[in-house]
Amino acid sequence: MIKSKVMNVGMIGLGGMAEAHRKAMGKIECLQLGALCDVDEDILNKIGDEEAIRENKRYTKMEELVADPEVDAIISIVPNHLHAYVLKLCIQHKKPIMAEKPFTLNFDEAEELAALYEKQPIPCMVGFSYRYIPSFRYTKKLLEKEKIGSIRHIAVRYLQSFGAPLFEVPYLWRFNKALTGTGALGDLGSHMIDSARFFVGEFHSLSALTKTFVQERKDPISGEMVKVEVDDYASFQAVLEHDVIGNFVTTRHAVGSGNQLEITLYGDFGTIHLNCERPNEVDICVKDAEDKAPAFKTIQVPDGYEKQQLQDFADLIRGQSAQEMPNFYDGYQNQKVLEKIIQSAESGQFVKVN
Ligand SMILES: NC(=O)c1ccc[n+]([C@@H]2O[C@H](COP(=O)([O-])OP(=O)(O)OC[C@H]3O[C@@H](n4cnc5c(N)ncnc54)[C@H](O)[C@@H]3O)[C@@H](O)[C@H]2O)c1
Repeated sequence: MIKSKVMNVGMIGLGGMAEAHRKAMGKIECLQLGALCDVDEDILNKIGDEEAIRENKRYTKMEELVADPEVDAIISIVPNHLHAYVLKLCIQHKKPIMAEKPFTLNFDEAEELAALYEKQPIPCMVGFSYRYIPSFRYTKKLLEKEKIGSIRHIAVRYLQSFGAPLFEVPYLWRFNKALTGTGALGDLGSHMIDSARFFVGEFHSLSALTKTFVQERKDPISGEMVKVEVDDYASFQAVLEHDVIGNFVTTRHAVGSGNQLEITLYGDFGTIHLNCERPNEVDICVKDAEDKAPAFKTIQVPDGYEKQQLQDFADLIRGQSAQEMPNFYDGYQNQKVLEKIIQSAESGQFVKVN
């Protein structure tokens, strides 16, 4: 356990999502940004200046940052093909890590990591950030209190729009199979899988369908068209723990959708609906004392359900792992479900997960 009051965090990968983590870290007293790493020196120096990071703590090689004895913990926000490598480095140097999702590029990498982690476990959080939305945390409590009775089925959809031709998005790493693994499936679908595991439990079996709508995208440097090898759309139906049935749809090709993760949990005595775009509200339909016929009501999440993701990470570094924190095992299981979805989509078969 690290005893110092303020812990020095090394951040690797300083692109879009890093900004959210930098802002969030500002709210956690016992964490401070002590070192940075990015292969893009312009970004590295821009953020280094903004964060007043000393020159000798600005790295272009992640191996050097992880090995730095003054770095107590790592936040890794690199493209997906590097997730397993950063985790391996952290295991090797026994450094706590908050690693972004999806867990790895594929399940082979997850298996290899699990073997290393078993020999040398480290504090590890995986970036399934929706567990920290107040409405998600409150719903978890309502389910524990059996507010809607036994859950029978759930519907999950996660829709974004940026991949639709309307936006003329070029060929980014997010469309390159070698760098991203999968398309909407790993990017957004991994959050759907985590939400279902969070509220219901493990996946037992599933069948899936994936589709690439935009076959080619323009390389922003050469201007040439490049073939896209990852999905724009994935849907799957699954049987989860306690025989709960789940239906899941995700795409980055839904014009009009911003960042729309919606979950509906249907129980014997009611229904709960969540939309991450309304993080402090829960739509609930249950019979109450006055109601003759149950109807949906939107309720505000009461106080006490706010929690910063990085607060859990800080506590983890100090040796306290919150029960609901997404950990190494959650990452591994998530990757296994992703693998089974790919297997099912390719074979056209219903497949067992565990
Ligand atoms: N939890 C969430 O909700 C959430 C949201 C967005 C992104 N993410 C995840 O965060 C990761 C990054 O996504 P992003 O949108 O920030 O991508 P991005 O492309 O905006 O940023 C990636 C950064 O990593 C840097 N990089 C690339 N190779 C590197 C290397 N070898 N060493 C150091 N830096 C390197 C790039 O230069 C870039 O600055 C992805 O895995 C993504 O799935 C998670």
